[in-house]
Amino acid sequence: EGLIEFHGSFQEMFEFFCKHSTIHGTVRLLCSGGGRARPALWRLLLLASLAMLYWQFALIFSQFWAYPVVLTMSMHSEPKMFPAVTVCNLDPYRFELVSEHLAQLDRMAEESITFLYGINTSARLFHLKDRKIHVQALANLSSSGFKLSQNFSLLRMSDLRSGKKHSSVGFRLCNSTGGNCFFKTYSSGMDAILEWYRFHYMNIMAQLPLIIDISQHEEQIEDVVYSCQYDGEPCRPSDYVHFHHPVFGSCYTFNSKGTDPFWTATKPGIPYGLSLILRAEQKDHIPLLSTVAGVKVMIHNHNQTPFLEHEGFDIRPGIATTIGIQQDEVNRLGGNYGKCTRDGDDVAVELLYNSSYTLQACLHSCFQHTMLRECGCGYLYYPLPAGAQHCDYNKHPAWGHCFYQLYNRLRNHHLNCFQQCPKPCRESLYKVSAGTAKWPSAKSQDWVRQALRHQNGYNSTSSRRDIAKVTIFYQQLNYQAVHEAPLLS
Ligand SMILES: *[C@@H]1O[C@H](CO)[C@@H](O)[C@H](O)[C@H]1NC(C)=O
Ligand SMILES: *[C@@H]1O[C@H](CO)[C@@H](O)[C@H](O)[C@H]1NC(C)=O
Ligand SMILES: *[C@@H]1O[C@H](CO)[C@@H](O)[C@H](O)[C@H]1NC(C)=O
Ligand SMILES: *[C@@H]1O[C@H](CO)[C@@H](O)[C@H](O)[C@H]1NC(C)=O
Ligand SMILES: *[C@@H]1O[C@H](CO)[C@@H](O)[C@H](O)[C@H]1NC(C)=O
Ligand SMILES: *[C@@H]1O[C@H](CO)[C@@H](O)[C@H](O)[C@H]1NC(C)=O
Repeated sequence: EGLIEFHGSFQEMFEFFCKHSTIHGTVRLLCSGGGRARPALWRLLLLASLAMLYWQFALIFSQFWAYPVVLTMSMHSEPKMFPAVTVCNLDPYRFELVSEHLAQLDRMAEESITFLYGINTSARLFHLKDRKIHVQALANLSSSGFKLSQNFSLLRMSDLRSGKKHSSVGFRLCNSTGGNCFFKTYSSGMDAILEWYRFHYMNIMAQLPLIIDISQHEEQIEDVVYSCQYDGEPCRPSDYVHFHHPVFGSCYTFNSKGTDPFWTATKPGIPYGLSLILRAEQKDHIPLLSTVAGVKVMIHNHNQTPFLEHEGFDIRPGIATTIGIQQDEVNRLGGNYGKCTRDGDDVAVELLYNSSYTLQACLHSCFQHTMLRECGCGYLYYPLPAGAQHCDYNKHPAWGHCFYQLYNRLRNHHLNCFQQCPKPCRESLYKVSAGTAKWPSAKSQDWVRQALRHQNGYNSTSSRRDIAKVTIFYQQLNYQAVHEAPLLS
């Protein structure tokens, strides 16, 4: 028989194929003359295997379209800059312009606490004759006709829930026509009083700029930092910026730009780090704003606004704290492999901070823009775009109603800020570990205080624990970089 033959019919060709084919399976599938059951079984098997094949393809493709990444880790050891460090004394000042309103607020708080708990706190909590701070930067601002509102008084509410009597404390917020009201309540009266105070405080402070530059008023404002050393050398005045924050008080940022070779990290270890002796005295200019005693410290990247409320940690008075840091770097691929932004230019949210892009700065800016759109004024703790105003219930009586609802929506991820703000593609993270010891010890405290008194303007005769020491150092100069790389390409 020849290689190519012409067959009279399909039947003939089929028989020829069955006799000569070298494909094993098909012979059984199509040609076995026996009963009908066996080919049917083979056909079923073929279909099943085709289905499996299709399923496998689908799996592989879906994996491919998910853009999986592998993480590679590498160690680097080139010399690098010490991070920026911000310390704040948690003790905002009573500026002259608002001191009268703050005194009124303290009296209102005192009445509320007496009303709720029946104790008279005025002698213990407030010393109303606090020195007023006059600052040149505020000289041109005149006191607006601000009036504290009595509309938001603290109330105790009790309700029956699952047979038990619960009591909560809160205050009432209404929209501008008063048709829609809710109570901002807390099960702990302490939280309610703090939030209530903070709410009034925001309205009072709306008269002042958010960040007050007090660098030219060093002589008027008591220092936070008694002593500062880096790598064994005393810090120079050009090494820090000094500002005032309405909640965190007097703040210093060391090495904020990260360009001065003075701050290059040369060696790991405690002697080569930043060592600070801080005033942690509780002057309590505004005692109801924060109930924490001590100093807040945050370690962050250069040119980055410190968000102390999220990432700062507290240093106790009378304690020496050593903070070891280790740097990690994360590099994300971006594009199809997960949204990230190189420099924030491609993000839809207009950043209100003058620093480099961070997720937190984007979220705050996004919230502030939403707030301006929906409530008509800006949240005090975030910066404003040009021409906008901070909220003040004299001008926007319903802003509290609007703000607390909006803030809840942000927290529950119902605002689309989390979708609008991608992570940065390249991020430096600082891992910190801390140890503490009592400082100065009972035996050494006399001479330590004496030495501070002579050199650093320390001026306390009390034996109260009012100083703290912080040392921040690199545990190792090597840093790990995590890179994403495509798994499939
Ligand atoms: C609390 O006590 C001070 C003096 O101790 C007194 O002047 C003030 O009126 C008292 N306040 C209330 C609400 O009882
Ligand atoms: C305050 O106003 C005066 C003139 O009215 C001006 O010379 C001065 O620079 C202003 N100061 C500040 C801190 O804005
Ligand atoms: C206040 O709430 C009531 C009831 O929901 C509503 O009818 C009214 O329009 C609201 N006022 C404003 C100014 O939104
Ligand atoms: C923001 O940065 C620009 C340019 O660096 C500067 O002119 C401006 O004063 C800064 N604004 C603030 C609020 O720091
Ligand atoms: C307080 O309530 C009164 C009457 O309900 C209203 O006229 C006034 O505008 C409110 N003041 C503020 C600051 O909300
Ligand atoms: C230091 O203490 C003395 C006496 O206690 C006091 O007169 C002086 O004003 C204090 N100086 C400062 C800067 O607090």
